[in-house]
Amino acid sequence: MNKLIVSLLLTLGLTGVAHAAGDAKAGQAKAAVCGACHGADGNSMAPNFPKLAGQGERYLLKQMHDIKEGRRTVLEMTGILTNVSDQDMADIAAYFSSQNTSIGMADPKLVAQGEALFRGGKLSEGMPACTGCHNPSGLGNAAAGFPHLGGQHSAYTAKQLTAFREGERTNDGDAMIMRSIAAKLSNKDIAAISSYIEGLH
Ligand code: HEC
Ligand code: HEC
Repeated sequence: MNKLIVSLLLTLGLTGVAHAAGDAKAGQAKAAVCGACHGADGNSMAPNFPKLAGQGERYLLKQMHDIKEGRRTVLEMTGILTNVSDQDMADIAAYFSSQNTSIGMADPKLVAQGEALFRGGKLSEGMPACTGCHNPSGLGNAAAGFPHLGGQHSAYTAKQLTAFREGERTNDGDAMIMRSIAAKLSNKDIAAISSYIEGLH
C-alpha cells in the first residue's frame, strides 16, 4: 500500500465519532418511512434510490447525520430526518445494515474496463485502486466507515462519482479522498466502474 493511502486510512480511522449502538429490531419499524424509496429491506427498486441493505452501520449513520445537518444535499429527503432522534437513526442504521444486499448485473461490454480501474486504479496519474478501501469484493470496511459498494445501482454510483468530481458532494472529509480520486475519472471511466460495481459481490 502506498504512503498516501496509509496516511488517509489513519486520518479517517482516528477521526471517527463514537455513537450509541443501534438496535436492529427497534429499527425495523422506524425504517418504514424510508422503505417507500429505499425498499422495506433496504434493496430499492429504483436505480436513483441507493440500496442501504448490508451497508456498514457507521457509514449509514454518518450519511444520515450529514443529510440531516446539511453537509450533504438530498432534495428527496428534505425534512424526513428533522424529527428523527440520534437513537432512532442508530436503530435504523443497525436494521438496514443487518439486511442482505441484492446483487445486480454488470454490462458485459464494460466489465473489463471497470474491473481494471477498480482493482488497478490509474497509477500513472496517482489514482489508487478502489480495493484498498472498498475491499476487493466491494464490501467496504464497516469499522472504518468505508462504504460497501458491491451490488449498488450503477445509476446511483455514477451520480455520486460525478458529484464528487464536480465538487457537488463534499462530505468526504478534509482529506477530500473521494473528490481527489473522482477528479481522475472520465465519464467513460465512471460508466464502466459503476457498471462493474453493480455486479460485484
Ligand atoms: C422520497 C424518497 C426517499 C425517502 C422517503 C428516503 N430517502 Fe434516503 N435517499 C433518497 C435519495 C434519492 C438518496 C440519494 C441522493 C443522491 O443521489 O445523492 C438517498 C440517500 C440516502 C442515504 C445515503 C446512502 C449512501 O449510500 O450514501 C441514506 C443513509 C439514506 N438515504 C437514508 C434514509 C433513511 C434512514 C430514510 C428514512 C428515515 C430515508 N433515507 C428516506 C431518497 C429517499
Ligand atoms: C483511501 C480510501 C478510498 C479509496 C482508495 C477509494 N474510496 Fe471511495 N470512499 C471512501 C470513503 C471514506 C467514502 C465515504 C465518504 C463519506 O463519508 O461520505 C467513499 C465513498 C465512495 C462512494 C459513495 C458511496 C455511496 O454509497 O454513496 C463511491 C461510489 C466510491 N467511494 C467509489 C470509489 C471508487 C470507484 C474508487 C476507486 C476509483 C474509490 N471509491 C476509492 C474511501 C475511499
